[in-house]
Amino acid sequence: MTTLTQPLLSARGVTKVFGFGRQKNTAVDNVDLDLYEGEVISIVGESGSGKTTISKILLGLLTETSGEIYFQGAKRDIRSHAKKQEYWKNIQAIFQDPFSSYNIFNKIDSVLLDCINMRGGRSLPREKKVEMMSEACSFVNLKFEELTNKYPFELSGGQMQRLMIARIFLLKPKILLADEPTSMIDACSRATILDELMHLRREIGMTIIFITHDIGLAYYVSDKVYIMEKGKFVESGSADSVILHPKEPYTRRLLNDVPKIYEEWDLTTV
Ligand SMILES: Nc1ncnc2c1ncn2[C@@H]1O[C@H](COP(=O)(O)OP(=O)(O)OP(=O)(O)O)[C@@H](O)[C@H]1O
Ligand SMILES: [Mg+2]
Repeated sequence: MTTLTQPLLSARGVTKVFGFGRQKNTAVDNVDLDLYEGEVISIVGESGSGKTTISKILLGLLTETSGEIYFQGAKRDIRSHAKKQEYWKNIQAIFQDPFSSYNIFNKIDSVLLDCINMRGGRSLPREKKVEMMSEACSFVNLKFEELTNKYPFELSGGQMQRLMIARIFLLKPKILLADEPTSMIDACSRATILDELMHLRREIGMTIIFITHDIGLAYYVSDKVYIMEKGKFVESGSADSVILHPKEPYTRRLLNDVPKIYEEWDLTTV
C-alpha cells in the first residue's frame, strides 16, 4: 500500500556489467524501480535474469556500473564504512543461500547479539539480551537454548533460514530484501515462513522486496510486481494487472510454467 508520495527507495537507470571484452555480461540493464513505504513488491524472473544482482546493488553489496540509487529522496551515499553501516540499519536481507550470509566462526548467540548491538543495545544487561534473543527465536519456532552453543553450519537449511528471520526480528529494518527466502525449506514449512514474514511485516511495519522465480508466490504476497528478463524489467505494475492481465509474452510464459509444475506432481500419492 502506498502511504507516501516520495519513494523510500528508488533505482534510476541502474546497470551492472560483469567482466570485460568478449566475457562482458550485462546482468542488470538500465532498470528503474520505486519502492514506497509499507509496500510489498516482487521481482520475478527466470534463473540468471539478474534478480540477485539488482538486490545486491539495492543493498549496497555490489556497485552499479551506471545509474543511481535514491534512499528517502536523496541520492544514496554509502562510500564510507560509517555511512554503509548506517544504511544497513534501514535495509537488511534474507538470502537465497543462507550459508553465505553468516560468518561460520561465529556461534549463533553472537550472530543474534550482533543484531542487538547494531540496534544500540550493547549496554543492555545480559539477561535482557537473552530475553530478546529468546523472543526472536520463538517468533520463528526455534528454541534459543538449543542453539546458543552451535555454529551456523550445524543447522539445517530450514533452521538457518528461520534464524535469518529471527535476525530481522531483532534488527527491525525499514526495508527487507528477501531473495528466495524459502528456497531451502520444504513445501509445508514454506507457507509458515511466509506467514511469519508477513506477520513480522505487520509487527514492525516493514517494506518488503521479494525476489523469486515463483510468479504464484509473487501474486500471493505482493502489491506490485516487476518482471525481469535478461537484466531488464519488461513489465511492471500492480500484482493484479501484471499477473491476471499480462501484456508481455515472457510474463505469460512464466505464468504457463506454474500449472505445469503442479501437473507434474502425482497428487494421488500425496
Ligand atoms: N559476481 C559475478 N561475477 C560475474 N557474473 C555474475 C556475478 N554474479 C552474477 N553474475 C551473472 O549475472 C547474471 C545474473 O545473475 P543473478 O545471480 O543476478 O541471477 P538470478 O536472477 O538471481 O538467478 P537465480 O534465479 O538462479 O538466482 C548471470 O548471468 C550470472 O552468471
Ligand atoms: Mg538469485
